[in-house]
Amino acid sequence: MLAAQAEVESESVSLILQLHHRRLDELFDRVEIATEIGSWSEARREFEQFRTALEEHFRIEEEFMFPSFEAFTRALGGPTAAMRAEHRELGRFLDLIERLLRDEQPIGEIGAAFEALLDAHNAKEEQGLYPLFERHAPPEAYAALDLELRPPIVETK
Ligand SMILES: [Fe+2]
Ligand SMILES: [Fe+2]
Repeated sequence: MLAAQAEVESESVSLILQLHHRRLDELFDRVEIATEIGSWSEARREFEQFRTALEEHFRIEEEFMFPSFEAFTRALGGPTAAMRAEHRELGRFLDLIERLLRDEQPIGEIGAAFEALLDAHNAKEEQGLYPLFERHAPPEAYAALDLELRPPIVETK
């Protein structure tokens, strides 16, 4: 437990956010598997977990990473305007998928389109935004994001 904690604490913020992406992919795969076998209540439960985790990931990016880019590039629109727009578009897909699951309908093409958009979005962040943040973020912005990504501290006495 302590070793695992120490390992997490030594990782860069961009690696932790990339691990979120991988974890989210796994969570969405579980939704798809449950729908394929027609296990609708399980699919809805897995989707709920996925949606909560994805929205939390978006919140952390929007509140703790994007503002430091926007401070420099606001006048030009900047790369984060596209990222925020994609978060909103992905959110519309979440609403569609939620409705399909509620009606016990296959998510097939909509699920595939959602995954393709999420993969492309994540790749842009991992190849562009995250490395730039790693190199150029003001120290206080980096520290604030780092703190936000920490697991809750367990008090020991
Ligand atoms: Fe994002
Ligand atoms: Fe992300």
